[in-house]
Amino acid sequence: MAGLDALDPVAERMKADLTELATIRAPDSGGWTRTVFSEPYRSSRDWVRARMRNAGLDVHTDGAGNVIGVLAGRDPSAPALMTGSHTDTVESGGRFDGVVGVIGALEVVRLLRENDLRLERDLLVVDFLGEETNDFGLSCLGSRALAGGLTRDHFDRIDLEGVQLGRRYAEFGLDPSAVLAAADSFAPNGLFRYVELHIEQGPVLEEHGTAIGVVTAIAGIRRLVANFVGRADHAGTTPMTVRRDALVAAAAAVLAVRQEGCGAPVHGVATSSRLDAEPGSPNVVPARVRLFAEMRSIDVGWLSDAQRRLAEQIAERAGEFGVDADLSWSVDNDCVPAHADVQQTVASVADALGMSWEAIPSGATHDAVHIARLCPMGMIFVPSREGRSHCPEEWTDLDDITAGVRVHAGTLVALDRSA
Ligand code: GLV
Ligand code: MN
Ligand code: MN
Repeated sequence: MAGLDALDPVAERMKADLTELATIRAPDSGGWTRTVFSEPYRSSRDWVRARMRNAGLDVHTDGAGNVIGVLAGRDPSAPALMTGSHTDTVESGGRFDGVVGVIGALEVVRLLRENDLRLERDLLVVDFLGEETNDFGLSCLGSRALAGGLTRDHFDRIDLEGVQLGRRYAEFGLDPSAVLAAADSFAPNGLFRYVELHIEQGPVLEEHGTAIGVVTAIAGIRRLVANFVGRADHAGTTPMTVRRDALVAAAAAVLAVRQEGCGAPVHGVATSSRLDAEPGSPNVVPARVRLFAEMRSIDVGWLSDAQRRLAEQIAERAGEFGVDADLSWSVDNDCVPAHADVQQTVASVADALGMSWEAIPSGATHDAVHIARLCPMGMIFVPSREGRSHCPEEWTDLDDITAGVRVHAGTLVALDRSA
């Protein structure tokens, strides 16, 4: 594949970007915290806009709050190529999740311009709004909106402080009606392909010593909010046999969730992430508990079966403790395969560059899930140290990022030339 060697990322330039962006974080939280709608997140997006302009992109923010930089191609009427990722983090997260895809895309743009390599198509570089799952139980706000997957009903969801999603948007300077309308005016000539560079967030590439992961599919996610209602009683006087302890019922549910995950087919997982118990006094038997859990898999049949089994087990165990269980399930996203053409292109580019690669599914979710509704998508993974992610220890070596950006650049060029 001619010309790919010229697209040689400048590691020090990306290191400077990673280091600068990492300084923008909530001062009172651990690790790196830039949650959606927060002030540090507002600042990080200003930083991204400035870096995009500096790289030569024409920058705007769409109605859904996505920061978009456009590199004009030769043919303004052609469906555009798109890349990007996100710069929000989970609470006390790391420095690389999402950020590598945004900074990597900026580096690709700089390389294209420095090498006078003009693409046929417009290249859209996107920092999607709020990719991480928030207190509204909704991930990928920006890409979901672009794909028409965000509806007015979502704005009524409330966070843990009782504030509606619609109000959070408005407080952040985004008009909810414009958020819903964003899909209509986005990319008027359509999208050709979407490619996202991301850290693996799991242990496979490092364990195998593989440079590049060619993503085959992104796991489906089922979420559960379970409300357990028992009875408040004196913790010092109520005999164990007559208690209706909601927390004990919830604990049984936590173990049932774990057991499902342990019995899942390869790459299937199940996690309980939060328990809120009331009244929460040391001397009162818990009367009400809310449990948050999720299951993920690329095996859609298992997700449905596991949901049914869990629903039965949780209700049955709760009944044994005299507790009522009310379960509410939602699908955060269905399992989405990466497009064969894009997978093939990433693999060929890695081969042409002499890099090792392997096909790998993604247990983490990504904006690519939603963009897949607009055009064929694919993802490129680079190794995560010890597979750690969503924690301050999250780390990917600069050399690995640089290798990923080479493949990313080559893939975008190859796709641009492919049709
Ligand atoms: C985001 O990283 C997710 O997988 O939830
Ligand atoms: Mn991510
Ligand atoms: Mn994440």
